[in-house]
Amino acid sequence: MAATWIARAQQLTAQARHRLEVEEEFDEYAEEFEEHLVTVLDYKLPEILATKLAHHASLESEHLAQPRRVVDLGCGTGLCGRAIRRLLGESVELIGVDLSACMLARAKEDGAYDALFQRDLLAHLERHERAEAVDVLLAADVLIYVEHLEKVFREAHRVLKRGGWFLFSTELALDTEVTEGRVVRESGRIAHSRGYIEALASEHSLAVLEAETIPLRIEDDVPLPGDCYVLQRDMAKDLRDRDA
Ligand SMILES: C[S@@+](CC[C@H](N)C(=O)[O-])C[C@H]1O[C@@H](n2cnc3c(N)ncnc32)[C@H](O)[C@@H]1O
Repeated sequence: MAATWIARAQQLTAQARHRLEVEEEFDEYAEEFEEHLVTVLDYKLPEILATKLAHHASLESEHLAQPRRVVDLGCGTGLCGRAIRRLLGESVELIGVDLSACMLARAKEDGAYDALFQRDLLAHLERHERAEAVDVLLAADVLIYVEHLEKVFREAHRVLKRGGWFLFSTELALDTEVTEGRVVRESGRIAHSRGYIEALASEHSLAVLEAETIPLRIEDDVPLPGDCYVLQRDMAKDLRDRDA
């Protein structure tokens, strides 16, 4: 019992240390982040995710076609927020969450978000989002800092409305190179395999509408491949589970 408790305490300490390191890294990077990422590293994920959302929303009936609440996890300086505003206009409530105060300060400058919170993304979902209240969850280039995605998926299912979407990216990992679905790269970032993501999605009644491999950004002069996902809270499976 004591050994389990000590192991859990060590795991929590390691997670807290990791979050602090990420926060410090992005506080330092915040000033040059956008210019560097977009101009030099050719980062287009916010537009890609917004285009995918527009496509899937256009196929839906009226109440889903007009998302009302969008939560941008790891919003950074707000590139996704601006892409979402361009797509959905002023009627949508847009929430941004990030660990880094300096990234959030940049996001605040152009006013795309209705509210911004300096928090860990999982803590935000667990403690600050009501069940079935979110139409769209975004996590662009951020789950690469989160090793275990089980709780993120559990929360995604809990907070999304039926039919709501979860759009995110991962760095590419082959099923053959991962242990328990993930591998920590030399960069310190985490790559998650498609098999792992699909298994989590299935476990949490999230249908995989799209999984596409794309160049995420330039790294060491070559495009870094990643997977871009569109998941939808699966209404049919929810109903089957309820009636079982
Ligand atoms: C590569 S940037 C991407 C920012 C933004 N999503 C975009 O596409 O421009 C990753 C962001 O995720 C944030 N981040 C990393 N881990 C996080 C966590 N556990 N909770 C909240 N934010 C996190 C970082 O502070 C950083 O701003």
